[in-house]
Amino acid sequence: MKSSSAIVFGGASGLGEAAARGLAAAGHKVTIADLNEEKGAALVTEIGADFLKADVTDEESVRAAIASAASAEGGLRVCVNCAGVGAAGRIASAKHGAAPLEGYQWAININLIGTINVLRLAAESMIGNEPDERGERGVCINTASIAAYDGQIGQTAYAASKGGVVGLTLPAARDLSRDAIRVMTIAPGLFDTPLLALLPEEARTALGENVPYPPRLGRPEEFGALALHIVDNQMLNGEVIRLDGALRMAPK
Ligand SMILES: NC(=O)c1ccc[n+]([C@@H]2O[C@H](COP(=O)([O-])OP(=O)(O)OC[C@H]3O[C@@H](n4cnc5c(N)ncnc54)[C@H](O)[C@@H]3O)[C@@H](O)[C@H]2O)c1
Repeated sequence: MKSSSAIVFGGASGLGEAAARGLAAAGHKVTIADLNEEKGAALVTEIGADFLKADVTDEESVRAAIASAASAEGGLRVCVNCAGVGAAGRIASAKHGAAPLEGYQWAININLIGTINVLRLAAESMIGNEPDERGERGVCINTASIAAYDGQIGQTAYAASKGGVVGLTLPAARDLSRDAIRVMTIAPGLFDTPLLALLPEEARTALGENVPYPPRLGRPEEFGALALHIVDNQMLNGEVIRLDGALRMAPK
């Protein structure tokens, strides 16, 4: 795809930051939309992008961020959503009883409803674009997780939220096919982002050694490279790509 306007939700850190860096380096005009103003502002100065504070669960702030990115010449063509949170806790246990419902509502609201909110508003904006030289109006990339398939003990909330993202990928691509808009999802395995940086070095190395090949944690730029490839490869549509070095997570 020729360079165009791209927005990255959750682009202030980790995988979203890598996607934003990759898109900016490839010449796209990037807007980063994230809750974290401090990190977002520092990054946009470095890579020459715009920053807008946005909460993926909030209709008005997502609408405003998309409108700002879409005001560029040619409209908004690329939307990547990496905003997400982790959640842990057994669904029920003898010691603690049933897990609080609020934990599920929180994770599903950010990871799944937030994804739907971003996708629907980005698609609405892209529908108004003139088709590009390939006949395409835009591409949306969601972020799930391999926990959608092999969630571990304590991951029901997280796995349910990411399983929803996996499930909506094909029907969303079908919905938007008549408008020449593609929808793809990346399901990362274990990546070395600030999320995992909280663990001691030893624990991170041990986690990486469980990956069949290469036996290490994923590098955020490998996620960014896949996002960029999806933007460029028009045959990728309605699919979820596991990016995990053949890792299948054990129960714990
Ligand atoms: N790191 C991994 O190993 C891994 C593996 C599988 C899936 N994922 C998924 O990838 C995505 C990115 O993870 P990461 O490791 O880069 O995490 P991260 O914490 O480094 O980055 C997440 C970003 O999302 C932003 N964010 C959180 N809630 C938001 C909201 N409501 N609105 C807008 N922005 C919000 C945060 O401010 C942060 O900048 C998440 O969806 C995560 O579930 C990560």
